[in-house]
Parts: sequence; structure tokens; C-alpha cells
Amino acid sequence: TEAQSIYEAIGGDDAIDALVEAFYDRVSKHPDLIPIFPDDFTEVARKQKQFLTQFFGGPPLYIMEHGHPMMRKRHLRFQITPTRRNAWLACMEGALEEAKIEEPYRSAIFDRLILTANHMMNTPEEEK
Ligand code: HEM
Repeated sequence: TEAQSIYEAIGGDDAIDALVEAFYDRVSKHPDLIPIFPDDFTEVARKQKQFLTQFFGGPPLYIMEHGHPMMRKRHLRFQITPTRRNAWLACMEGALEEAKIEEPYRSAIFDRLILTANHMMNTPEEEK
């Protein structure tokens, strides 16, 4: 039998759409995140859907359009402090709930995103 990816298990495209919409809805209202994000989230949401689709075992949509993800490098132009990392994860935690991603996938997804978010930090708090 074939192992199912997290992407398939949570409901594929519709689940990723719901998650990413709920996520940027929160990001767009978070005081710690507003300063580094654009006013229009259309493009970043589109790219995040592509990225998370492949990150959770779906089709490699991000790499097909943008090449190697190099996520840390793509984030270097933004000051990502521990406070902003916490804010990003708080938005994601709320979005996982709003999008009704069920256990055990919710925790599996969140645990992996914690590791990636840790890797994205590039600025100590005092430089904020
Ligand atoms: C893009 C912030 C973590 C995936 C961005 C952008 C910002 C940002 C400001 C660019 C918006 C623009 O285009 O102007 C942050 C902060 C994080 C974080 C504060 C806190 C740790 C993550 C994590 C992931 C991720 C953990 C993946 C799981 C992406 C993707 C893009 C993006 C896919 C679009 C990249 C592209 O332009 O191709 N992020 N990010 N980010 N972020 Fe993050």
C-alpha cells in the first residue's frame, strides 16, 4: 500500500487554500508582522500555497515556478526577530484551527513549521 502524504490526508488543494487564506488574514492584522508584509497579500498567498503544497508532499508547485526554495535566503531582506517568529507561528496555529485541520496532521504540520520558522530567524531582538 502507498503511504499517503499529509497533503492528501488533510484534503489536498481545498485544505491548503483554506489554511493559507486563514493564515494571511491573521498576518494582515498582526501588529508585529504588518511592517514587513506588503499591503496586498495576493502574490505571497499564491506562493505560500505552492510552497506548502510541496512541503506536505503534494505536487512540486513552488519549485516548478520559482526553482529551489532557499527559504532562509529569500527571507534575508526582512528582519525576522524572535518576536516575529512567534507572531508568525501564532497566526499559523490559529489558521490550522480555523481551517479545521484535524489531528494528528495539525500537530505534525505545526511541528514541522516550528523548525522552519526557527531556521528563518535572522535578526536578534534588539535590532528590531
Ligand atoms: C515570503 C515573513 C516564516 C514561507 C515572506 C515575506 C515575508 C515573510 C515578509 C515576503 C512578502 C513579500 O513578498 O513582500 C516571514 C516571517 C516568518 C516567516 C516573519 C517568521 C518566521 C516562513 C516559514 C515559511 C515561509 C516558516 C515556510 C514554511 C514563505 C514563502 C514566501 C514567504 C513561500 C514567498 C517566497 C517567494 O517570494 O517566493 N515571508 N516568513 N515563511 N514566506 Fe515567510
